[in-house]
Amino acid sequence: YRHLRVALLGAGAVGSQVAALLLKHGEELADRAGASLELAGIAVRDLDAPRDTDLPRELFTTDADSLIVGADIVIELMGGIEPARTRVLQAINSGADVVTANKALLATHGPEIFDAADQVGAQVYYEAAAAGAIPIIRPLRDSLAGDRVQRIMGIVNGTTNYILDRMDTEGADFADVLAQAQALGYAEADPTADVEGYDAAQKAAILASLAFHTAVPLESVHREGITEITTSMMDAARHAGYVIKLLAVCERLTGHEPSASGEAISVRVYPALVPRTHPLASVHGANNAVFVEAEAAGSLMFYGAGAGGVQTASAVLGDVVSAARRHVAGGVGVGESTRANLPVLEIGHAVTRY
Ligand code: HSE
Repeated sequence: YRHLRVALLGAGAVGSQVAALLLKHGEELADRAGASLELAGIAVRDLDAPRDTDLPRELFTTDADSLIVGADIVIELMGGIEPARTRVLQAINSGADVVTANKALLATHGPEIFDAADQVGAQVYYEAAAAGAIPIIRPLRDSLAGDRVQRIMGIVNGTTNYILDRMDTEGADFADVLAQAQALGYAEADPTADVEGYDAAQKAAILASLAFHTAVPLESVHREGITEITTSMMDAARHAGYVIKLLAVCERLTGHEPSASGEAISVRVYPALVPRTHPLASVHGANNAVFVEAEAAGSLMFYGAGAGGVQTASAVLGDVVSAARRHVAGGVGVGESTRANLPVLEIGHAVTRY
């Protein structure tokens, strides 16, 4: 076996589960990866912060620098832009592959990070950055690479889906349900990111970039949240045969200038009226679903847990195994394809049909 050192940055809801699963299933993962995976350490800001975890104390360190320098694979689960960006670039430049769940970072600095990785032949894995446990990054990047994606409609934020679902099924009050979503660990540290659609917009930028092989800047994503949605709106929608869902819609529009190909894309997050007969209408609780329409493949739906520590840890560990396999194979990664450079058209929405 090759011996690979894995550095973990961050010990929050996802990070502590990644560490626990890596310790628990290390031998099995080593068999799959063809390399032993040593959890070399867990970098945190404050060693004494209260933690709901049984992880060995000696794994924790505040010295992220030393941890990164000695690592083959760096898992970044700190969240936020800085210092995560600096740490990820540091890991790439010290020769490590990076696994990250950081949608904010990728949606704002994706091109910088992928370029840095390309220059040194490193790879950045981010299956956990959109829709939690649901495999959607690899399907868009790899499985559908031979097809043309026309449209993606996604429920990509668990917190808002949980809130809207409880409002719809129980007539529950927005503020009460938000507090429950926070208590269940679905919400971001600042739940504004969830209810105002920022989290979904970051994920939409990532999914659209992959689906349309172009770099979609976060600023180009039209965004509306769910704070204006009331139970009486939910009632009215129900009586008309609809349910209100916060959708991320990414679509290819043909016949639009100014692109040379006459194509443009639209990426938008907004509360939409979804017919109750549509598969997206039956996505309940904190689950996510991504409905993909491709020219040849037709309609595909990816469904599952979009939030939650242990569920998201599954996607992170899948990436760790992929990175380890690449190390063993001695392969050089293929960077993100951003060749199309399609313009993003702004389309505004209030509550409308999708
Ligand atoms: N706060 C996010 C959500 C967590 O509710 O979906 C997963 O990104």
